[in-house]
Amino acid sequence: MNKKNQEILIQIKNLTKKFGDFYAVKGVNLEIKHGEIVGFLGPNGAGKTTTMKMMAYLLNPNEGEIWIRANGELKKLTRINKDYLLDNIGFLIEIPAFYGKVTPKEILKYFAKLKGYPRVRLDERIDTVLNMLGMLKWKDKKIGTFSKGMRQKIGIASAIIHDPDIIVLDEPQTGLDPGARKEVRDFILKLKKMGKTIFLSSHLLYEISEVADRIAIINRGELIAFDTLNNLEGKAKKSVIHFELLNPPDGKVDDFITQLKTFIAPLTGIAEEENWIKYYDDNKVFQLFFNGNPKNQTDILKVLLENGYEILEYSVPKAGLLENLFIELTGVNEIGGVYK
Ligand SMILES: Nc1ncnc2c1ncn2[C@@H]1O[C@H](COP(=O)(O)OP(=O)(O)OP(=O)(O)O)[C@@H](O)[C@H]1O
Ligand SMILES: [Mg+2]
Repeated sequence: MNKKNQEILIQIKNLTKKFGDFYAVKGVNLEIKHGEIVGFLGPNGAGKTTTMKMMAYLLNPNEGEIWIRANGELKKLTRINKDYLLDNIGFLIEIPAFYGKVTPKEILKYFAKLKGYPRVRLDERIDTVLNMLGMLKWKDKKIGTFSKGMRQKIGIASAIIHDPDIIVLDEPQTGLDPGARKEVRDFILKLKKMGKTIFLSSHLLYEISEVADRIAIINRGELIAFDTLNNLEGKAKKSVIHFELLNPPDGKVDDFITQLKTFIAPLTGIAEEENWIKYYDDNKVFQLFFNGNPKNQTDILKVLLENGYEILEYSVPKAGLLENLFIELTGVNEIGGVYK
């Protein structure tokens, strides 16, 4: 990587936002470097939009700072310099509710003018952006007739019409079908090839892992991981077993777990001191981490049966390593339920 690629373009320090007593974002630190795609991953309500709104100066933090590079120098975002610092960033934070009677061309002209994009190059720029999104032929059609995916693309187009170097997209793929999600994904990679720096939020793990160079995982307002996909997967060297018993522990969960541990521990293939077994009272599910080896998986089942436990369900959720880490860190399982 050359020096320019190491350069930090956005630095977020101890960012905190409270609504009343509730911390929507708490002590978040992260930085975004030139030319990279940082994925911002977290379940619903994790604090993604709130963080991005503070970056766009739409919300004021209670604590912490946001530093943005402009003309070679990192500067702290304040009310006074916000226009100057945010000029080079394109935001799509909330899907704009476009008035149905206008056309993409009219909308894009409006946003470009707001951002002071040179008028002489505007027609060409509108065509370029619409073409990149496969929307050129819809340029003069009324948005009222567009599908959700098409509207979303016009939202993305309006965020980047002034050709910013940094692009912040809040859940650009939410609500889109798999085909449209792939189009947006490909478009994001195209932007990266053009040298753009991208900060992208999603609760869709797959969408993030396909495009991001680094992934920041946020949960309940706190950043719980920030690393490359490879390094994160390295940390998630464990697999998960879920099992349910016909007779779940009533009350004395700790004793129950201690007993289970005595004979399962030698079979998990992971260090004793790690907290590898949990019981979720809400759905009566035991969650157990093991080394992922199928032999260990069958041995654990065998030993449970041998010890007289009646197994109602026993499964290894079909999930990638990152997904396991995500479950481990956030307590949100892959079917979307909240365990913790
Ligand atoms: N204006 C507000 N007043 C009170 N609470 C708020 C406000 N805005 C957000 N919150 C709360 O802050 C938390 C974080 O919300 P945020 O919208 O940042 O989450 P998110 O990660 O973007 O979630 P999603 O994936 O659902 O978009 C949520 O619990 C939300 O209810
Ligand atoms: Mg959101």
